[in-house]
Amino acid sequence: MPIIAPSLLSADFLNLQRDCDMLNESEAEWFHLDVMDGRFVPNISYGLPVIEHIRKATRKICDVHLMIMEPGNYAEAFKKAGADVLTIHYEACPHLHRNIQQIRSLGMKAGVALNPHTPVHLLSDIIQDIDMVLVMSVNPGFGGQQFIPHTLDKIRTLKKMIIDKNLSTLIEIDGGVTLDNAAAIVKAGTDVIVAGNTVFKSANPQATIAALKNAGN
Ligand code: DX5
Ligand code: ZN
Repeated sequence: MPIIAPSLLSADFLNLQRDCDMLNESEAEWFHLDVMDGRFVPNISYGLPVIEHIRKATRKICDVHLMIMEPGNYAEAFKKAGADVLTIHYEACPHLHRNIQQIRSLGMKAGVALNPHTPVHLLSDIIQDIDMVLVMSVNPGFGGQQFIPHTLDKIRTLKKMIIDKNLSTLIEIDGGVTLDNAAAIVKAGTDVIVAGNTVFKSANPQATIAALKNAGN
């Protein structure tokens, strides 16, 4: 069964404690936290102080997705804020290997995110050094967009690469996941499902999380 990582980008920011409590009592294992800088992506979300507060509101894994330029400058600060998994974008990192080493030496799991146009084979010489690949299934920057179908081929190719190299790298999918496409996403080889709107805009978020968890069964 996939790990479910609801994206707090779609939470109610005036009632964050309430939404954290709801997730704490749900089957979601991870909190997905989206950080945007208005440079790497055309949107600005939230940053360190908000994550510090969320960290205090949960014992679950804090999965921080940095959609920012020069993420290496902030790795230590996100560790201090409480990140367990820190994901940086391939497209934002000319010295990706160095950034990965830095994240791991700080005691976090290291993830690398790929934009929709970035082919998975570009990871063939770094995949053995990372804990997770985040495959963007929408263009990063906003919640509530439509899933790009070609992403399923990328997941299958990536899964094959991971199995062929005998690795245990996780595959996370992010963007446009719904109750309708989740089964196909899991069957393609996804380990971690991010869902923002599908969870938070549903009438019963906990039931929706449970349904996502069972997708593909
Ligand atoms: C988009 C973010 C996603 C977003 C997903 O740039 O990385 O995590 O919150 O939202 P949905 O599930 O609504 O597409
Ligand atoms: Zn994200």
